[in-house]
Amino acid sequence: MGLKNFITVEGIEGAGKTTVLQRLKEELERRGKRVLLTREPGGVAIAEAIRAILLNPEHRGMDAITEALLYAASRRQHLVEKVLPALKEGKLVLCDRYVDSSLAYQGYARGLGMKEILDLNRFAIGEAFPSLTLYLDLPPEVGLSRVYRDGEREVNRLDMESLQFHRKVREGYLVLADHEPERIKVIDAGASLEEVVKVSLQLLLNHVSQGRE
Ligand code: TYD
Repeated sequence: MGLKNFITVEGIEGAGKTTVLQRLKEELERRGKRVLLTREPGGVAIAEAIRAILLNPEHRGMDAITEALLYAASRRQHLVEKVLPALKEGKLVLCDRYVDSSLAYQGYARGLGMKEILDLNRFAIGEAFPSLTLYLDLPPEVGLSRVYRDGEREVNRLDMESLQFHRKVREGYLVLADHEPERIKVIDAGASLEEVVKVSLQLLLNHVSQGRE
């Protein structure tokens, strides 16, 4: 199941997705793979415009369903403009967050329902699911303290959500991983960066060499 060569990385804020992904890209390129590293909205103008609405700290009154629809809309545009063309060119696509973020954040933590959010996203992405998802698992206390320690980093609207909310997000991810153990691999993001990169790379290389559809 899922699109061959389409790999996503998931996790709560501060789990280290961005750093790990950058390292994975380098390691894969050293092995001669052609890689697109991207994240929604990924520099796609329409998706960027949608994202600006979502993350604006002034939009505290945003309805949860509106939020889910906007994420799905942004995802669709990024998928068709960036992800699918790269896959077609034979690249390996590594995407920082994708449909599981919506399932965990909007479906589970916001309480809209995983099934409802899955249905909504099915309409947006069709059959374009990743064939491998690396979920970097971390207690939210640790993740959020990393975010706030990093002075350079912008604190966005969702970073400001309560610890309770992030606990639910984590729970949501674990429910998903439990449900789809073949696709979603849980990685302990509390380990050292080197260890997280090593484990992730191994999973990725195994997956790619299996050529799983
Ligand atoms: P992002 O900018 O990717 O932040 P991070 O560096 O933490 O990955 O994501 C911004 C926020 O958007 C983040 O708190 C997670 C949230 N989000 C959702 O709630 N649903 C979604 O579908 C996606 C993609 C992100």
